[in-house]
Amino acid sequence: MHGQRVLVVKNLTPHTRRTSPFRPKVELPLKHHRIYATMLSHVTGRPLMIQTFTEPTLPTAVQDQLRPLLDEAFPGLFNGRTYVKQQPHFRIIMHAGSDVVGHVALDYRVIRIGVEVVRICFVIDLCVHKDRRGQGIGSKLLEEAEAQARQAEVCFMVLIADLHGFYGRHGFLRIQGVSTKWLEIKDRASHSLIEGDLSDQLMAKPLNECGWPEGPIDMLGYLP
Ligand SMILES: CC(C)(COP(=O)(O)OP(=O)(O)OC[C@H]1O[C@@H](n2cnc3c(N)ncnc32)[C@H](O)[C@@H]1OP(=O)(O)O)[C@@H](O)C(=O)NCCC(=O)NCCS
Repeated sequence: MHGQRVLVVKNLTPHTRRTSPFRPKVELPLKHHRIYATMLSHVTGRPLMIQTFTEPTLPTAVQDQLRPLLDEAFPGLFNGRTYVKQQPHFRIIMHAGSDVVGHVALDYRVIRIGVEVVRICFVIDLCVHKDRRGQGIGSKLLEEAEAQARQAEVCFMVLIADLHGFYGRHGFLRIQGVSTKWLEIKDRASHSLIEGDLSDQLMAKPLNECGWPEGPIDMLGYLP
């Protein structure tokens, strides 16, 4: 379990965000917990803070702010819930003061690719409050997701998205022309086993010097 991981961010302007180093000033390795804090400075003067929660520990106050954020970012998908098909393992939340301004969820699993079974981290439901977009918050959330996935020693971060340019700039590659199998969930009920082509949506970022194996993909479960 990651427990809670905290990153305080100030000064995350479009001009400084690519050059601002990630400088952990506090690192407290506990038995199953790591806590980070770093201070930059923010364009609004209000510090931004990243916190990671395991799903069962996500505070009600955060869930209450997350629902409208997700509904606005992904119209018609969440319907007032904090998940679409299944609850993720971790939530990385960006706060500005007490406001939730960004979110990404992580789902760890193994999948089969050809004859290999590899550990991956699904990156799910990245979103930033509409008034805060273009300030580097989405990129910072992705960076934090990657730091955690690396620490968990997974081989690939995987996501389903059509923002190929944005994710491409963050090192994600398109996985094309590969047959993929997954459990289809409809209306929150297991529906059927689908075998299809996700060429337009499937992206992956290799970590820890892994190379994408040859062969068809079996998601060994649902598709986030
Ligand atoms: C995608 C999203 C998370 C980006 O967050 P953000 O804080 O604005 O991201 P950043 O400021 O770090 O980066 C902005 C970059 O994303 C690009 N971008 C954002 N939304 C985009 C879109 N819909 N199409 C293409 N590019 C987009 C911007 O052009 C900008 O590019 P640059 O880095 O070359 O300047 C945010 O726009 C959002 O919440 N969108 C709605 C939900 C969504 O589509 N999530 C992705 C699901 S796969």
